[in-house]
Order: sequence, then C-alpha cells, then structure tokens
Amino acid sequence: MITYDVIIIGSGIAALQLARNLKKDLNVIIITKSKKHHSNSYRAQGGIAAAVGKDDHYSIHYQDTLEAGCFFQHEKTVHELVVQGPFLIRDLQQAGIRFDTTMEGELLLGMEGAHSRRRILHCGGDETGKHLINHLIAQLPSQIEIIEDAFVYELLIDSINNCCIGVKAMTANGQIHQYMGRSIVLATGGIGGLYSFTSNDPTVTGDGIALAYHAGAVLKDMEFIQFHPTLLYWKGETHGLISEAVRGEGAELINDNGKRVMENIHPLKELAPRHIVAKEIYEQRLQGKEVYLDISSITSFASKFPTITKFCEQQSISLSTNKIPVAPGCHFLMGGIAVNEVGETSIKGLFALGETAASGIHGANRLSSNSLLEGLFAGKKLAAYLNEYASSSKVAMNMKKIRTANISKQQGTWMLPKREEIQARMMQAAGIVRSHLKLLQLQRWLQQYMPTADERVDLDRMSVDEIQTFFMLTAALLVANAALIRQESRGAHIREDFPFPSQEWEKRHVIQTRALLERGRNKNEYPQVKIDA
Ligand code: SIN
Repeated sequence: MITYDVIIIGSGIAALQLARNLKKDLNVIIITKSKKHHSNSYRAQGGIAAAVGKDDHYSIHYQDTLEAGCFFQHEKTVHELVVQGPFLIRDLQQAGIRFDTTMEGELLLGMEGAHSRRRILHCGGDETGKHLINHLIAQLPSQIEIIEDAFVYELLIDSINNCCIGVKAMTANGQIHQYMGRSIVLATGGIGGLYSFTSNDPTVTGDGIALAYHAGAVLKDMEFIQFHPTLLYWKGETHGLISEAVRGEGAELINDNGKRVMENIHPLKELAPRHIVAKEIYEQRLQGKEVYLDISSITSFASKFPTITKFCEQQSISLSTNKIPVAPGCHFLMGGIAVNEVGETSIKGLFALGETAASGIHGANRLSSNSLLEGLFAGKKLAAYLNEYASSSKVAMNMKKIRTANISKQQGTWMLPKREEIQARMMQAAGIVRSHLKLLQLQRWLQQYMPTADERVDLDRMSVDEIQTFFMLTAALLVANAALIRQESRGAHIREDFPFPSQEWEKRHVIQTRALLERGRNKNEYPQVKIDA
C-alpha cells in the first residue's frame, strides 16, 4: 500500500494553497466528499482583505482585525497574517489571478463592515471565490490527484505514538478505501450546514471537527460562530448570501414600515460589526417585521453583483423594486480544532487548516474577508513546514496499535434524527441569541443520540448518510457544550441571560476533548470543559 507524504481532506482555498505550495516530489492526494468545486471558498462573494491601498497599512488592518475579534485573538498570528497579506496577493497576481481594477488600472478596493479602510479585493465583482478556486484548481500540479465523492469518516491513529497515520474513506455505494499518510490535513470548512439558515455550501457539516474529536484531538472556542446579517430570505428559507459589499456600496436596511433598522443602534449603522447587525435584524424579525436591503442608491447593481442578481432571479425576486428580503444565518466558525502555529493539532501528524482550525486569528468574531486571506496564509505556512519535514517524518507505524475512532453505540437500536431537525434546533437554541435554558435543552436532546464510552459500533457498517448525521450531532453537541459553559456575551457569542462580557472569561478558552466529555458522561454530569486561562 502506498504511504502518501500528505493527504489533504477538503478542496477549499486553504487546501489548494497548501497543495500548490508543496514540493513537487512529495506524494500528495486531495480527498473531497463531493465535487472539488463544492466548498465555501468557491461561494465566497466577499473578497480578500489585505492592506494594499495607498492610505492603508498592515498595522491598521491589524487593529481592525483585533477590534472585530474583541481582542480575543492570538496577536502574534494576527500580526503575521496582516503583514503577509499584500505578499499573498502579489503571489496570486503572479500566478495569473486578475483582481478587479478601476478604469485607471488600479486595484479596485471594496469596503466592508468594521474595516476602517477600503481593502477588499474582488474578482468578477461578487464572484471572487469562483474565479480563485477555478484558477487554483486549473494550476494544480498534475501529479496531485484529487479524489472526489469519497467521504473520509475515520482517522487512523497509532495510539502508541499518538500519531495520525491515515484515513478511511467511503464512497456513496459503501466501498471503503484506506489511505495511509505521513501528514494528514483536515481542511473541511466549518459547520454552516448544522443550521437551517446558512450561507455555507450544503456539504459543509462539520466533518473535520467531528473526525478530530472522535480521534481524540482537542477542540477550542466552539461557541464562537458568526452569523451573517444578510442572507436572501424568501418563502421561509434562505437562499445564499447577500454580500456585505452591498451595504459597503450604500444599501440600507429597512423594515416593512420603511424604517431604517440600524438607525440609533450603532454609529456605523449598516457597517457595524456583524453580530450587532445580525442581532438587530433577528430582533426585528422576532417582532414579526420583515427586513430588506434597500439597494436604490446602487448603480449598475447587476454588473457589480452578478451572483446576487442570479440568486434573486432564481427566486423570482424582481430587483426593480430595489428591495431584497434578508434574514441572518450561520456563516463562519471562529473556533474549531486547536492547532499550533503551523497548524498541527494535539495529535502528531494531524493538521487542520482554514475554518476547520481554531488558529487564533479571528477571536470572538471574524473581520469580514479575512478568511480567504487566512486560507492563503495558513496553507502557505503549513506547506513550508511540510516541505521540510513531511517526507522525513519517521513515524513508527504499528498497525496492531491503530486506534480507530470506533465510535460506539449499539447498532440496531440507534435511531438518528433527521438532519432538518438538528438544523432547526441549532438555529433556535445555539443561534444568534442564546440562553442557558435553550442550550441545556439542546444539549440534552443531542446527548441522547451520542454513544456512551462503553458502547461500541463499527462505522464501517454505517452508510455515508448515517455517518454524516452522526458527525453533525457530534459537532452540534460541541457547540452546545461550549455555548452553555461560556456565561457571558462576547463578540458573536450572545447570551441573553449574560448580556455583557465578563472579566472572568477574558482570555479564557473552552477546551473540549473526547476524553473529557466521556468522563463527564459516565458520571452523568455535564461534559467537563477545561478552562484554559
Ligand atoms: C460577504 O461578502 O459579506 C462575506 C464576506 C466574508 O464573510 O468574509
């Protein structure tokens, strides 16, 4: 059996940036559960934030990032990110990516909430992700194989060395393949698909988070989830993102009485930090009011925002009314798998990148358009590390001691809920505004589906669909646990019963591992969550 140097799971920007920067003599595969274009990166309308404007400087980008994240970040990493920003953009330009420019040929820089300068680069208006991903995939070195429609459902762990040595993947017809590797990289995106209202690609359902958790890795800050204020809302459902760039171009939020929603709420009005705008829209909607983006001040809307125009057309919403109905929905996970400065998790040889990782960049709330930048930054950094160490890592592969996740639950008695129910419950209890009671009910409901430590079941005998639902339950429970234990409001984590930030929680992170939670369950207590001061 081949042992790959690097196995990358996922095909978004972080995965592709890693792959294109790895040395050509490394033996690399990318495995994705769906098609290679199905990722949040591909859908990204907002662009890439970088301090490239004449009036800008990385130190201003740094300050904006920290303020948006409520200073809950790993400052050194944020600093590195913003310093690298302009170089990463130049790198892409040299690879042939053409960012939108003015008539004079200058980079066209967009504005988004909580940025104090115009610094968002786009491609094709709101088609940034599509242009970027198509380009990066087309340029991928030919020796890198992309395996599509293979769902990685288990990490193989050498338990003597606490080291990840491979993965198991299942195809839709239930065929199982094992891939052995020296470095395994989880770049599967976040958890948007756990919620009924989301901007995310439907394939993004927390797989990487659940895989890492079941393998015993440490998870961090799972309560910090950004809700985007403006998803297209029509007939009780959301239908994709209405980019913040629309508000950056002057669109105003109004309710069905024509009243300006953000008036007297925040000095930056529509461009206030996302959690503030999302909460206000959420509250208007609770009062039974519909909320719209009034786009009457924007000229040439269709050419500036072709994707959004298409979304509206698909729902037969006429833009001639100048009103786009909106509602907030799950957008981005700031927490995730705990990683060190190169992206390595608490399990040797297992790495996490991009939204899957809790890199310390986003803190309690992400500054918009910093995530594509993070993907570029983290992918390149990990590539540099693996180029040095990947092929030389001498992991003793003691096959007899492989600890597969071997998640436990008596087969035959395991009735999994419908995904729609998980999504609706998450939206209601772990959504924009949370409370102890709602979270506790959610936690109890989720726990009933989780195996106890002494139950055993073989994932190999489950279908892809069942495992994915189980992974959704796992990721949802990690969110509920963390949101329950953080008794304060900070950034995107809003508790109606603890409406203010608390000094006690400053700089404290909610850490979860399988071992900690199972101990808690055996004692019939709340899962134990360690507070990392
Ligand atoms: C947007 O275009 O509003 C989303 C951009 C982002 O979240 O980074």
